[in-house]
Amino acid sequence: MVSIAVVGSTNIDMVAYSDQIPERGETVTGKDFAIGFGGKGANQAVMAARLGVQTYMVGAVGDDVFGQSAIKNFIDQGVKTEYLATVPGSSGVAPIWVDGDGDNRIIVVPGANAKVTVAQVENAINSIKDLKVVVGQFEIPVEVTTAAFAAARKLGITTILNPAPYREIPAELLAVTDWLIPNSHEFQDLHPEHLEPNSDGVIADFAAAQKINLVVTLGEDGVVIADGTITKVAAQRIKPVDTTGAGDCFVGSFAFGLAMQMSPAKAAALGCQTAGLSVTRLGAQSSYPSASEVAYFLSA
Ligand code: RIB
Repeated sequence: MVSIAVVGSTNIDMVAYSDQIPERGETVTGKDFAIGFGGKGANQAVMAARLGVQTYMVGAVGDDVFGQSAIKNFIDQGVKTEYLATVPGSSGVAPIWVDGDGDNRIIVVPGANAKVTVAQVENAINSIKDLKVVVGQFEIPVEVTTAAFAAARKLGITTILNPAPYREIPAELLAVTDWLIPNSHEFQDLHPEHLEPNSDGVIADFAAAQKINLVVTLGEDGVVIADGTITKVAAQRIKPVDTTGAGDCFVGSFAFGLAMQMSPAKAAALGCQTAGLSVTRLGAQSSYPSASEVAYFLSA
């Protein structure tokens, strides 16, 4: 059985829904509140596992009640936790505001996510059998992600970097990354001239200059793949109620697709479908579809 490892963050999301977002010094009345399971890494792992691939979460939770709940959630979702550490201190948390358009503003407090170690992730990558894909983001120390990807590269395992939240990508990490999946904001931040990904030429030139396979996610405008050629994959045009975790939903689905040897275009079409469904529902993992909801994209 092939496996995926997600090396990344686990958070508890605390989401306030409010049509009006407060200005500095202002108090507004919200309309709803929810606590849910989140973290970019955890979200990606849960989506991949739901689609039916053996998925390992490699990261850390705190020795608090949030950590225990997160571990139980991974087990309930079918995500394997052998390489998830429990460390002293608080788990990662993310206070989130979602406005009336479904757009979010997130503060991540890393907690245990900052304590994932190089030795831990190298051991995981070198130990997991039939590992086909390793996925990383920027909510754990960057040197840890780099070490995981370097170990994966030595074993010929495909690596996918979701550069979120944005930070500069160290050259040594880029050198061991096979696929880079930024959204439009992250693309613009990464681009040396801060160009928007608003033309095939801009996207193709950036991918060629970085010597990387690129998937730029553009929300309701779908995605653009630049892997030597340009391929566009459309998304459904839907009025979102909550976009939290939609990008992670895409990344987890794309990783699943590559692990299952789908073409990048087919993996991206699957990701557009799962992410499109997720924005019609509240929360991050709580909004993700089951495999049966996207059965056509798994079989077509
Ligand atoms: O991408 C959405 C996620 O970002 C949330 O689940 C939150 O935990 C932060 O990591």
